[in-house]
Amino acid sequence: MLNIVILAAGLGKRMQSDLPKVLHPLAGKPMLAHVLENARRLNPDRIIVVVGHGAERVKDAFADQADIHFALQVPQQGTAHAVQMAAPLLVAGTSGGDATLVLYGDVPLVQTETLQRLLNAREQGMAVLTETLADPTGYGRIVRNQQGEVIRIVEHKDASPDEHAIAEVNTGILVAPTGNLKDWLSRIDNNNAQGEYYLTDVVSLSVQDGLPVHAAQPSALWETLGVNSRIQQAQLERHWQGEQARRLLEAGVTIVDPARFDLRGSLVCGRDVFIDVGCVFEGRVELADGVRIGPHCVIKDAVMGAGTQVEAFSHIHEAKIADQARIGPYARLRPGADIGSQAHVGNFVEIKKSRLGQGSKANHLAYIGDAQIGERVNIGAGTITCNYDGVNKFQTIIEDDAFIGSDSQLVAPVRVGQGATLGAGTTLTKDAPAGQLTISRPSQKTIEGWLRPIKKS
Ligand code: UD1
Ligand code: CA
Repeated sequence: MLNIVILAAGLGKRMQSDLPKVLHPLAGKPMLAHVLENARRLNPDRIIVVVGHGAERVKDAFADQADIHFALQVPQQGTAHAVQMAAPLLVAGTSGGDATLVLYGDVPLVQTETLQRLLNAREQGMAVLTETLADPTGYGRIVRNQQGEVIRIVEHKDASPDEHAIAEVNTGILVAPTGNLKDWLSRIDNNNAQGEYYLTDVVSLSVQDGLPVHAAQPSALWETLGVNSRIQQAQLERHWQGEQARRLLEAGVTIVDPARFDLRGSLVCGRDVFIDVGCVFEGRVELADGVRIGPHCVIKDAVMGAGTQVEAFSHIHEAKIADQARIGPYARLRPGADIGSQAHVGNFVEIKKSRLGQGSKANHLAYIGDAQIGERVNIGAGTITCNYDGVNKFQTIIEDDAFIGSDSQLVAPVRVGQGATLGAGTTLTKDAPAGQLTISRPSQKTIEGWLRPIKKS
């Protein structure tokens, strides 16, 4: 049986925020969500999150995740006290393999591989995740005996000058046999510089009970970085974005500048995808082979087919784009935009809940909402579907090979038949028959002999 206890009761005072610290985002989702995702990959039997400051908000934020148990810690009397609040919820089997892994809600990026290594290291005893820092100030220090065995952790504030010189620090993450842990927690006092119950005291108790304490190290240092301030949050964000960019680069994606790349979700790329600078990807985005994304695009929950190109400054949200399409610059695709193969969507064109069929083009300044547009249709500059009467929305249907003259308004519900042409400036209020020219503007006239007014002297 594996329990995972995530400590998330602390105040996070240095964030200078009303939002509980563990709800602050990293790569677009709460820090605690990252911890939970990595924790779940270990297939634990139980996950317990210890909440305190802002407990209700933290619980609400994860109310839809039924596998999480919450324990309340009020007031916060230290890390051992926090785990003790979770103790009644810990599950144990009969195997003796029962373990409890303690994670921090504000150390969001510890990777499953590192945690697995820690679990393997514990054997039948306990294990702590440690690392060696050039500047260990502030951290608990790992005290080893002459045989090199871990015997104790001493907090910075309680450490002697000799101990301050120790560069190996406690990351805070540890795993212990569940039964022993419960026993040790009940034996920990708060006789120390901070008057707190230190979880780190389980190490010396384990040694006292004759159980060896093992140590493991993270694969990378950033995995164990905690967030206590907005500066650390911003730094960790860049670490993580750099890591995500590195993984995509290794998989063959071109990212012109990994320092100007932001992924807040998942990005699945085919071969030879090209991503220019300053793009933000959110939710789940899939880019097929050869897709090119120009600079400064924001793309959320979208799928693009092979060879499609998105030019600079385009904004795409909940849209589907087939292969070989051209989008932008300055295009806006809103939820339900469904762009066909080889279609073009140009500058200042907004498309919502509409299908633009294969090879159709809307190249300049248009609004297309609630429309079904067939194949090879040309939508002239300035075309607007008037889909909304202030209360209800209506459909516009434009059949294959139609030509919509510039500056037309299509007052929905309305249909343009196959191969129909609308003259420029048409306000279409009735269906336009297939194959014919429909035009609604008054015919042009010239007034002969007309004189401009002149200024009275
Ligand atoms: C702790 C460790 C220290 C380690 C450091 C790594 C102890 C006594 N010390 O120190 O050895 O080097 O982390 O960052 O464990 N929390 C609660 N309830 C509490 C206190 C803390 O939930 O009563 C949570 C915090 O929200 C935070 C985590 O536990 O997520 C660590 O608490 P923090 O106060 O940051 O511990 P440190 O003093 O930094
Ligand atoms: Ca801390």
